[in-house]
Amino acid sequence: MSNTILVGAQWGDEGKGKIIDFLTEHAQIVVRSQGGNNAGHTVIVGGTKYVLHLIPSGILREGTLCVIGNGVVLDPVAVAVEIEGLRTKGVAVNSQNLMISDAAHLVLPYHRQLDEAKELARGSGKIGTTKRGIGPAYGDKIARVGLRMADLMQPEVFAEKLRVRVRENNAILKGYGLPELDAEAMILEVQAAGESLRPFVSNTVAFLHKAVAAKKEILFEGAQGTFLDIDFGTYPYVTSSNTTAGGACTGSGVPPNRIDRVLGVIKAYTTRVGEGPFPTENDGLGDMLHGMGREFGATTGRARRCGWFDAVAVRYAGMINGIDELAVTNLDGLDSLKSIKVCTHYRLHGELLEVPPNDYAQLSACEPVYTELPGWETPTDAVRSWDALPANARDYLLKICEWSGAKLRIASVGPNREQTILL
Ligand code: GDP
Ligand code: IMO
Ligand code: MG
Repeated sequence: MSNTILVGAQWGDEGKGKIIDFLTEHAQIVVRSQGGNNAGHTVIVGGTKYVLHLIPSGILREGTLCVIGNGVVLDPVAVAVEIEGLRTKGVAVNSQNLMISDAAHLVLPYHRQLDEAKELARGSGKIGTTKRGIGPAYGDKIARVGLRMADLMQPEVFAEKLRVRVRENNAILKGYGLPELDAEAMILEVQAAGESLRPFVSNTVAFLHKAVAAKKEILFEGAQGTFLDIDFGTYPYVTSSNTTAGGACTGSGVPPNRIDRVLGVIKAYTTRVGEGPFPTENDGLGDMLHGMGREFGATTGRARRCGWFDAVAVRYAGMINGIDELAVTNLDGLDSLKSIKVCTHYRLHGELLEVPPNDYAQLSACEPVYTELPGWETPTDAVRSWDALPANARDYLLKICEWSGAKLRIASVGPNREQTILL
């Protein structure tokens, strides 16, 4: 029995959903502890594709219990729609397999509007957010004016608090030249969604502590990735939560000494969606991957920016998260290349750097120092064992993990469950 935190060790979309689904063959509980429906986790099971935004990816396994922890920001209308969508596809979602923390903060319509308005106002300096209201919702949480699930469960308290918030936010929206929002209509819409969520809402901290005591196996499903972390990412081109391992504890109430291991998920190359520095970005690699129909965002459909594997970044992610083991996905994306570049260091004003600078302008000025490895020029998507992988593919996987400072544990050669090699 072990409790595992799974984190994205790059800029998000590393294939966390697929790896979570693979690991839930054993885990009994899957916990989301940060982020909101800015996440898009793709899981393909039996030929059906699911994109999970707020509901933990464990929902697709019968017998797995999913928890949305206190650290998540939750759009009640969006989560109600997501639950309905899953049910339409035949996935059972009920109070036996989903719990929502009463301390999770709400994403409300004015958060979404402000997210969009702030992005527009930034012009060319925009962050490239998912426009799901994530930044403004976490902003309210930190400013101590947010509303939580517990408020929504008390209709009169919720209505009263929401009226105050709408009044204040209407003044801000007016400053952006936007029309006022109708508090009464909003109360009705959000309360209707809230009522449909009532069976799921409880004190999930108490539940998780009992589960830990009963030695249940818990998997913490990270959303986003290390370099989108509000503290350690490429600030301000980041999301608004702690996407790194510590966030799993603060966002669930499970203490650090109850965690047994941290698994980092990485792609065999690098992608990023949205603005901000990306040292190993390479348009040629992006054109190739997009041409294969890959690397379009699961939440917004935007084409992801693509680049070579960046061992400097992943090494740093290993330090921050305490990554013991790595799962490498999308190896098959590199199958056709004759030669593959890997960034091992950055050079900044003539000096070799071992870790990325914190300042985004300095990071933007870093030149990647590459080592070139031979490709395998053989399809890997049908490979099911380590020994059957081409020798150059094995060598590539081992080298990128060695340079990243962690042990290779899982290699993924396709989006389906069975396209997974466990070492
Ligand atoms: P997440 O946000 O980290 O869960 O990742 P996303 O689902 O946003 O993006 C990962 C994409 O890669 C999805 O389309 C997955 O279906 C896909 N994927 C995951 N692992 C593999 C793999 O090994 N090979 C291929 N071809 N696709 C993969
Ligand atoms: P998953 O969990 C990739 C990016 C956005 C933008 C920045 C801020 O699927 O890996 P936000 O809406 O959070 O305020 O946007 O963060 N971003 C993601 N990029 N994967 C994600 O989630 C992301 N969630 C947010 O593109 O650059
Ligand atoms: Mg994603």
